[in-house]
Amino acid sequence: MSADLFGPFRVGEMTLANRMVMAPLTRNRAQADGTVPSVMAVHYGQRASAGLIVSESVPVSPQGVGYPFTPGLYADAQAVSWRRVTDLVHAAGGRIVAQLQHCGRISHPSLQPGDALPVAPSAVRPDGQAVTYSGMQDFLTPRPLEAKEIPAIVAQFRDAARQAKRAGFDGVEVHAGNGYLLDQFLRDGTNHRTDSYGGGIASRMRLLNEVLDAVCTLWPTGRVGVRVTPENTFNSMTDSDPQAHFEYFAAQLSSRGLAYLHVLEGDMSTTTRAVDYPALRAAFAGTYIANNGYDLARAQQAIAAGHADLVAFGTPFVANPDLVRRYREGLPLAVPDRNTFYTGGDTGYIDYPFHPHEEALSA
Ligand SMILES: Cc1cc2nc3c(=O)[nH]c(=O)nc-3n(C[C@H](O)[C@H](O)[C@H](O)COP(=O)(O)O)c2cc1C
Repeated sequence: MSADLFGPFRVGEMTLANRMVMAPLTRNRAQADGTVPSVMAVHYGQRASAGLIVSESVPVSPQGVGYPFTPGLYADAQAVSWRRVTDLVHAAGGRIVAQLQHCGRISHPSLQPGDALPVAPSAVRPDGQAVTYSGMQDFLTPRPLEAKEIPAIVAQFRDAARQAKRAGFDGVEVHAGNGYLLDQFLRDGTNHRTDSYGGGIASRMRLLNEVLDAVCTLWPTGRVGVRVTPENTFNSMTDSDPQAHFEYFAAQLSSRGLAYLHVLEGDMSTTTRAVDYPALRAAFAGTYIANNGYDLARAQQAIAAGHADLVAFGTPFVANPDLVRRYREGLPLAVPDRNTFYTGGDTGYIDYPFHPHEEALSA
């Protein structure tokens, strides 16, 4: 296979048409019951020329929900409704994996069954506010999970992974980043436990390992990826030594033969990168997906230099459903309207036009 952004690439058991990945993008367009409306199928179908689509975060259980109008995979009706999306993406020659998420402390009682407190490894309250059905509300101090509750968390991921099969996905991405539950266990700013799920680095990784063990009983490892975000401060996250800790996590993940490791490099809110990502990448033997702030030039350079096997683009895919073609043909990019990122409705979701073909021919 050529080291070309636009050439095909084999990831685990999936053959991709190109090396461009659509990064997971939560857009809050699902129904309140977590089912998927047809507008979501249109949205994803429009973007199916990406080599691989990683779905928006999909809560694995009612307890895992942290935002309004997010599509789930914990009820049969949700799985069935996702079929519209996967069928359309497949009909257009694309591939799509489900990003499995448990929000942990990034939630609010009003989003939880029985108005319960959100759960977390430790009682560490995030700064800021939760997005709820009645506007922004302050985050609360979460309830630390008891060790005896952890098998039920693992089961939530396993059950969602099973539903992802029924929904027709090509695989699953376990979301261990962006300050959600698995990341809250991985990073020492949020994991203050002293039992076998906290303390040392191996213990902090134990929940992720157990989740992967469970998910991989249902999916071949070549269809299971993991997303990590070592130094992203989003959702009030910190870690005392992301370089050492995430190199360790990457090395451990390496032995599993997973489809890929998907890394949000740096911090979404700044351009600084304190972690040495080539070193992190070197610790992982499999396919590496780089993300965060990549454009065409940086993506091509990352692939040519062997830094990345695949590059994920988030915001560029929002306004450019035909991003692959625009990059391949050197066409100008449309600019996304941030005001409609999370607002619901069709505007800013399915109405970004494809680039007119005639201009492409004369370009
Ligand atoms: C509107 C929006 C929604 C996002 N939703 C998710 C999500 O559901 N899961 C996730 O892991 N990352 C999510 N992200 C982060 C993106 O996947 C990506 O890491 C980030 O936008 C940086 O990549 P970019 O510079 O190519 O946009 C989101 C970002 C944006 C802008």
